[in-house]
Amino acid sequence: MKNVIMAKSAGFCFGVKRAVDTVYENAKKDHVYTFGPIIHNEEVVKDLEEKGVHVINSLEELHDLKEKEGTIIIRSHGVSKEVYDAIKEHGMEIVDATCPFVLKIHRIVREESEKGKQIIIIGNENHPEVEGIMGWSVTPTIVIDTKEKAEKLQLNPSVEVCIVSQTTFNYKKFQELVEIISEKGYNINISNTICNATEERQTEARDIAKQVDAMVVIGGSSSSNTRKLYEICKNECDDTFYIQTLNDLDLSKLGMADCIGITAGASTPNNIIEEVYTNVRA
Ligand code: F3S
Repeated sequence: MKNVIMAKSAGFCFGVKRAVDTVYENAKKDHVYTFGPIIHNEEVVKDLEEKGVHVINSLEELHDLKEKEGTIIIRSHGVSKEVYDAIKEHGMEIVDATCPFVLKIHRIVREESEKGKQIIIIGNENHPEVEGIMGWSVTPTIVIDTKEKAEKLQLNPSVEVCIVSQTTFNYKKFQELVEIISEKGYNINISNTICNATEERQTEARDIAKQVDAMVVIGGSSSSNTRKLYEICKNECDDTFYIQTLNDLDLSKLGMADCIGITAGASTPNNIIEEVYTNVRA
């Protein structure tokens, strides 16, 4: 039997667990939709589809629906104010499963932009969470995810600045980018809104990857937090494998490894993690 170190923080965080549970609770109703896939995990989305929960990907798709009645669940990433209002106007019942930590960012962004501050979001502008956050500012936001963008930033020095972060952003990178922006001498108010769940998962993944011969990272191929976990682990351990389910794992590649680490992104269900654990250990 192999020596396997399983990350305690692997898998669903509080916000995702809450959102997924909410969808399963509502699945018994008629005409249930989620606005975007509830999590970045194809298996879970497929299972929900079989239970009659369909995914709506855009407001256009919502308007094309024949039904005016039904339930739309907003996922943990949250949505912009515009999207929220449009869904409400459509007439469906909204079940808001936005993670409370994301709601907190929406509140900061709205309040601080109303005070006239320039909002800077440290994050990936194509990520749905960031798109949602952008939409709660009453003024145009600036999204920064690279050193180059931080260095190029030029603002009116008399305007106060409020910096928030995408919840799943890498903590080290956030510090680096904030430092570059801080050196420009603006009057800055920094809210580190990176979620602890992400930080803990990343730190634990790094610690485990340092100790093991091979590392397995489990998560959906389009899950940005899993991708980040993979990068962190790959940095510490050359033999790091990114898989979605057990099927993607070539167990023969782990043959030489005495000690194997396992972690998983925030959207990876427990049954998938356990299946990998059992097979890697055998
Ligand atoms: Fe919420 Fe943190 Fe998860 S912000 S959705 S608990 S990663």
